[in-house]
Amino acid sequence: MSDFEHVFETPLEGAAADWTISQNWRAYTQVEHDTWDTLYARQMEILPGRACDAFLKGLQALDLNTGGIPDFALMNPKLKALTGWTVVCVPGLVPDDVFFDHLANRRFPSGQFIRKPDQLDYLQEPDIFHDVFGHVPMLTDPTFADYMQAYGRGGQRAQSLGMLKNLARLYWYTVEFGLLEDTDGLRIYGAGIVSSASESVFALEDTSPNRIAFDLERIMRTDYRIDDFQQVYFVVPSIEALNDATYEDFGPIYERLKGKTSIAVDAVEPYDRVISGGTQAYANKGGRFAA
Ligand code: PHE
Ligand code: CO
Repeated sequence: MSDFEHVFETPLEGAAADWTISQNWRAYTQVEHDTWDTLYARQMEILPGRACDAFLKGLQALDLNTGGIPDFALMNPKLKALTGWTVVCVPGLVPDDVFFDHLANRRFPSGQFIRKPDQLDYLQEPDIFHDVFGHVPMLTDPTFADYMQAYGRGGQRAQSLGMLKNLARLYWYTVEFGLLEDTDGLRIYGAGIVSSASESVFALEDTSPNRIAFDLERIMRTDYRIDDFQQVYFVVPSIEALNDATYEDFGPIYERLKGKTSIAVDAVEPYDRVISGGTQAYANKGGRFAA
């Protein structure tokens, strides 16, 4: 989630120039390890048949359920052997350029902290459960691994062109909230969904949100909300198709986008290929703030 306000302007004391800190795995408390186990068990009740195969396969390959918060020293060699990625610890959200530099070098920055027991269902800042359980399994997939690195390089470029707002929407609607539809049916690959029990069900089964076929330029024009379930999800046929669709040079796209307005979160455009049209009932009733 690169596009939240970042919390600090310079690395905190004890952090390196690239903002990384030690995971300090031994310092986690039993309560914190239990939080991981609770969240993990809860997601595994929900995700089989809902998360895409690449995610479930990756989760298994990384062995993230050995009891408590994963120790990066044990997880990283497995991930590195599969796709060359590693996970590094950061104190929280980092500046965009730092984030892109990590991705471009196949390093995924993860928060070090875990949510408190009274925040199991909702938190606004990514913690280690979101970052590791949500993001890292997909990084074991060779195609997705390439996509994330390409995104890092693309981010550096978009930043220099002043187009980060548009590119960030691509990250949001793919890496965080992407769905895919293959011969098995509609499945989740986005980290923001697979790390949330309630959104894992909502994204696939609720009649409220729109589900629309992936369209690069359309996505780069579409607003998003960070405070509640999404009102629109974009669907790719496969991770390969996602990679292919984003391989082209974004330069001409950015030029076209400069003259165009944003698209609202609940809009359906005339050219959209709608997979399922939503009622927007959940959002219209006030979403998670409803009485
Ligand atoms: N093709 C993009 C560019 O030219 C780079 C990119 C790839 C961005 C994949 C995001 C995801 O900038
Ligand atoms: Co995230």
